[in-house]
This record gives sequence, structure tokens and C-alpha cells, in this order.
Amino acid sequence: MALLNWNDSYRVGDALIDREHCRLFDLINNFHFTYMQDRDRRDILQVLNELVRYAEEHFQHEERIMAERGYPELDRHRDIHVELFETLFSLQTKLEKGTIGSDKETVEFLRTWLTDHIAAEDRALGRFLAESG
Ligand SMILES: [Fe+2]
Repeated sequence: MALLNWNDSYRVGDALIDREHCRLFDLINNFHFTYMQDRDRRDILQVLNELVRYAEEHFQHEERIMAERGYPELDRHRDIHVELFETLFSLQTKLEKGTIGSDKETVEFLRTWLTDHIAAEDRALGRFLAESG
């Protein structure tokens, strides 16, 4: 079973953001699957690298939308992205060095890393985008 299942409660209401969040769900599910089934560190790293690259692009897209629409929480939201990205980056470094924590910790981290952020910050952004037309 997939780790993350997309449903409407994750919908922000912006087509690009929702599409990219769906893709992030897929990438995290891929990571989970590879981590559990394969366990070859090179394969796991390859999947994680793809996730890191895509997350970076996605955060840039979101920040561009926030800037274009004059979102008042842009700076705070950007700081949260930086923090999320740094945590993801440190996970990548740990995997490269082979000093990763337990499976459960890593998987739980990735699951909450995305879903908590969408539920709190991105949905607030979605409400602002809808209200400001
Ligand atoms: Fe965000």
C-alpha cells in the first residue's frame, strides 16, 4: 500500500500547486517503496535526489505565485520552505554517508514533512488566492 494517498483534503485550489503536490506524493511513495523493497543505497539515493530536485523547483514556483499575488505571509512561508529543504538536504547527506536513522523515522519524517506543510501553510495560501481572486 502506498504511504501517501492523495485526497481532496490536500487540495489547495491552485492547479499548478496541486499538480506539483501530487507529484511530490508520488516521489515520496517511490522513496518509501525503494527504501522498503530494494535497500540498495544507490537506488534509494537516486530516488531521494529526484525528490530533492523536484521539491526545490516546487518551492520556487510557490514562492513566485506568492510574490506575484502579493501574499502577505510570503517571507514567513519562504523561511519555512528553507527549513524544510534543509531538513531534506540533511537526510540526503546522511543517506550518502550511510548514517541514516531507523526506517520508521525516515519514512515518518517524509510523510509529515509534506502533509503537515500542505495542511497548514499551503492551504492558508490557497484560501488567500481564492479570496483575492
Ligand atoms: Fe509551501
